[in-house]
Amino acid sequence: MPFYHKLGKIPLKRHTVFKSDEGDFYHEELFGTIGFDGMSSLLYHTQRPTQVKEIIRSYDVSPKIAVEKNMKALNLKGFQVPATADFLESRKTVLANNDCYIVLAAPRKSLLNYFYKNTDSDEILFIHQGTGKLRTQLGNITFKYGDYIVIPRGIIYQIDFDTEHNRLFIIESKNPIYTPKKYRNWFGQLLEHAPYCERDMHAPSELETYTKKGNFIIKVKKQNMIHEYVYAAHPFSVIGWDGYNFPYKLSIHDFEPITGRIHQPPPVHQTFETNAFVICSFVPRLYDYHPNAVPAPYNHSNIDSDEVLYYVDGDFMSRNNVKKGQITLHPAGIPHGPHPGTMEKSIGKKETKELAVMVDTFNPLMVTEEALKIADETYYQSWLDEIK
Ligand SMILES: [Fe+2]
Repeated sequence: MPFYHKLGKIPLKRHTVFKSDEGDFYHEELFGTIGFDGMSSLLYHTQRPTQVKEIIRSYDVSPKIAVEKNMKALNLKGFQVPATADFLESRKTVLANNDCYIVLAAPRKSLLNYFYKNTDSDEILFIHQGTGKLRTQLGNITFKYGDYIVIPRGIIYQIDFDTEHNRLFIIESKNPIYTPKKYRNWFGQLLEHAPYCERDMHAPSELETYTKKGNFIIKVKKQNMIHEYVYAAHPFSVIGWDGYNFPYKLSIHDFEPITGRIHQPPPVHQTFETNAFVICSFVPRLYDYHPNAVPAPYNHSNIDSDEVLYYVDGDFMSRNNVKKGQITLHPAGIPHGPHPGTMEKSIGKKETKELAVMVDTFNPLMVTEEALKIADETYYQSWLDEIK
């Protein structure tokens, strides 16, 4: 996060004695990234965060790759992913490479009987359906439809869903997820031309501190394995923290679109960046206002990146037969563009209600067995005239 935040009680000076009113020591933890060079926070625990009792079991959760070298445009029917009670079991990785996983999930139950920590990746949970509360050791964040919840690697969390009808689009990133550098000044502040600002980014606001002892299971993801650790102290034992490394939310509905007289390229929709892919938000907006503008995108050859679009809501102007929760994959190396008839139909239109999330990866994505279960494998032929 490009700004400083603090919550709870912290000492005046870092790395100095800090005690409770009863005279018990608090235990300091530096929670940092990229060695000591990246974002970090200092946490103060009521109990030492190192009290591992036992490692019960370890098991492999690597995605099962069906197509390693994919060159076929695919259409995945995301809402066909079955609803599953457990949060971790509900997560189905559909596209993967060494930099990121694209995951669909329809968890029915809250994640409350254990804790989860992903040490491989930063995670973005995009909330398509559902409301609730993300609980973390740095505080809680309520969420609703349209929220991107950014969870840096190593954050221990639980999720409290309000209902059983939840649909999530999840991106796991091996590289840290940042706000785009082009939106920031040299101090990290978001600039006036950025489509969102710090007021739209919501840090944890409610810190729950537990001093319980017992058996607390944290499922730790590392190297595509889940290791079930049993800790003797409650993982949410932080009495206070400050710094730059913490989870936050940003609503897609707070992304202010950048429009122009003629068609604007995808980078104007950019929302997040990593070293290996970008995330863009396509939101309701006025169309181009040149009298002869063609609002539909031109055909384009994304030679250097695989393009993943997750359709959230509204009419998607350049595609026929789009349903909520669908993913299209347009692999690098071959051109794609508006479906037959959609370019012509877009001329003279004043606005679009489309809502979608795009992930452009700089390395090719592999297709998993889970993806093929929900794939329309004829999609790559859908630009032919006769399939209008
Ligand atoms: Fe495209």
